[in-house]
Amino acid sequence: MDTRIISNPSEADLDLLAETLRSGELVAIPTETVYGLGANGLDAEAMDKIYAAKGRPSDNPLILHVPDGESIRPLVKDISVTAQALIDAFWPGPLTITLPKSDLVPDRATGGLSRVALRCPDHYLCRDLLKRAGVPVAAPSANISGRPSPTTAQDVYHDMNGRIPYILDAGPCTIGVESTVVEVHDDKVIILRPGGITKSMLEDVLPTVVYDTALISESTKPKAPGMKYTHYAPDASMYVVVGKPSDVAEAFKELSKGCRGPIGCLVSHETHVLIGMDERFQCHCFGQHGDALALGHDFYKSLLQFNENHVTLILAEGVEPHGFGVAVMNRMEKASSHHVIYK
Ligand code: TXA
Ligand code: MG
Repeated sequence: MDTRIISNPSEADLDLLAETLRSGELVAIPTETVYGLGANGLDAEAMDKIYAAKGRPSDNPLILHVPDGESIRPLVKDISVTAQALIDAFWPGPLTITLPKSDLVPDRATGGLSRVALRCPDHYLCRDLLKRAGVPVAAPSANISGRPSPTTAQDVYHDMNGRIPYILDAGPCTIGVESTVVEVHDDKVIILRPGGITKSMLEDVLPTVVYDTALISESTKPKAPGMKYTHYAPDASMYVVVGKPSDVAEAFKELSKGCRGPIGCLVSHETHVLIGMDERFQCHCFGQHGDALALGHDFYKSLLQFNENHVTLILAEGVEPHGFGVAVMNRMEKASSHHVIYK
């Protein structure tokens, strides 16, 4: 199968992609977070193709993407006042809400769970396509399972060439880190996966917001099944250092001792000037020290670039786990197999 990348789509292109989705084939779609691998969310066989293309364990449930809040009505048993408040405040946007599913949603979408995950992306082209498709679109990140998530159409092509018919290209994703996943109850919201919508943003709307205990303690089973897998991992081993630029630069020197091959460095401008000349280092500056948004935006892109360049070690500067930094550090923890050093 040849994979076609469609950029600057015409109306006819969007209709073709919508029909492709409806008829049970896969289309990679842009969103504000990462690119998704889309399939008709009401068609179990179409969703099987997602698992096959990604090489993904089939107990891992999928997020159904919709063009607006109204479109979830047939998919859920009930929209509680709490859920509606979140939808009104954060949709379209990087917030995925799990709600008790209706019989219309196949078990294939939820991995047999009684709740379905729903999200309305803040991306006009994506929502236009979702509207034309007229069905909810199940979409995990469009990478081979376990690899860093794609934030450009070219990243998707690298993993999915020959596995899917179409990629809708809308340039780089603006956020670069997957959505926040929450489970909504009448009296509280549980964050299952941290993302673009932070805990304090949720607290501005609802009084009680807690993290799933599995996000805090390694020994608890996560409520979001996807959180238990090895994720986002680059090919080389990776260390993350959080601290002042001078401490990060010092730690990088220590960690690189004895390493003879090329070393991928993801650093702030402030740290970069302190590292000094070392011909092994391939540096990517994400922006200003402590800027979680800038780091999140460049994180997956840098890991994929380091894979491409066959580096033997990756050294990355982290940020304090506050605000959006919680989501970024969650991905850095996983990508580095918990090699995170706080200075
Ligand atoms: O930003 C995003 O959310 C991207 C874009 C494409 O929308 N999608 C994405 O999908 O990251 P995926 O499949 O890579 O991650 C979905 C996460 C997994 O951790 C999964 O376990 C969790 O959501 N999830 C899905 N349905 C769930 C459910 N019913 N209950 C609990 N967790 C669920
Ligand atoms: Mg993923």
